Amino acid sequence: MGLHVGVLTGGGDCPGLNAVIRAATLALLGSGARVTGIERGFHGLMRNRMRALEEADVADILDQGGTVLGTHNRADPFHDVEHGGADRCDEVLAHARGRGLDAVLAIGGDGTMDIAARLHARGLPVIGVPKTIDNDLPHTERTFGFDSAVAVVAEAIGRLRTTARSHDRVMIVETMGRYAGWIALEAGIAAGADAILIPELPYEMDMLARWCRAREAAASQAPAGHAGGTVICVAEGAAPLGGTLTVAHTVADSPDPLRLGGVGERLRAQLQPLLASEVRTTLLGHVQRGGTPTAYDRVLATRFGVAAAELASQRRFGRMVALQADACVSVPLEEVAGRSRRVPPDHALVQAARQLGVCLGR
Ligand code: F6P
Repeated sequence: MGLHVGVLTGGGDCPGLNAVIRAATLALLGSGARVTGIERGFHGLMRNRMRALEEADVADILDQGGTVLGTHNRADPFHDVEHGGADRCDEVLAHARGRGLDAVLAIGGDGTMDIAARLHARGLPVIGVPKTIDNDLPHTERTFGFDSAVAVVAEAIGRLRTTARSHDRVMIVETMGRYAGWIALEAGIAAGADAILIPELPYEMDMLARWCRAREAAASQAPAGHAGGTVICVAEGAAPLGGTLTVAHTVADSPDPLRLGGVGERLRAQLQPLLASEVRTTLLGHVQRGGTPTAYDRVLATRFGVAAAELASQRRFGRMVALQADACVSVPLEEVAGRSRRVPPDHALVQAARQLGVCLGR
């Protein structure tokens, strides 16, 4: 019997998931393997919801956003929230055995990799594929989805800069990214934001207000419509020095119950009384996670899908594919689980931003 591989997508949706599903499926089918799609992430493994994937199923999904397999960000086989937190690991193993799966490709972010590592330790042959717009998984220089999110945010900042310059307003743009500032940093630089605030560099409120006032004073001497206004790109996980995270709401029974959001509005309320110009906030939210992946993300997702299929064919389980020095490599899942990759405060992009005169809140 040839190899039989299950594929699932876990955690939040992300541009490029379908490109991975397509690449892995085509590569595996081409090598004579069978492929089964597991529906709604680990939920499908727990409830035995799966379907065969053939070439026709993935033919036209390369550039589609979301995931044709569905996803779930609270399905944890070690803590089944729909049934009082029961451990479903034995059922997961039984379902995989019953379907004749030799391996499972788990495409997801940190939560998915944690579960994948634990299931592998319990005997399920798993291979991880790193996904997240946040770009915060360790041991990989890039996760697919990040480039697409940065493109959306950069375009949004560019559009908001128009209003900032025309009306001499302070326009605050809040991005996603959880506890890492990669999206805000790269999109802010790509779009020429005047200030970029990231979780790794807590901002000083007084300094930020003084800096905005200096820009107001300079703009009042300049011809209208040119240098006026200020665009501040703030990551959802950014916080003032000595201050706290801004939490939008909490989700019970989620591996990370905190849903961040609202720092942009908080910043607006604090800055407005200190400035002459009008201060407005735009919260980009899930807009930056939806829609078609960029060409870069389609290529990266395709490379990851093919690399994961190769690992499965070689029966090298318990590993996550990764991008290092622009080559597809693999790393042990247990080295990924429970860790994250944040922006080093001395990162080259941070230094470049400083040299351009971008305010980083300090
Ligand atoms: O991890 C991806 C991400 O989009 C984060 O940037 C964001 O904080 C979180 O997911 C939002 O999750 P949800 O869609 O569950 O609100």
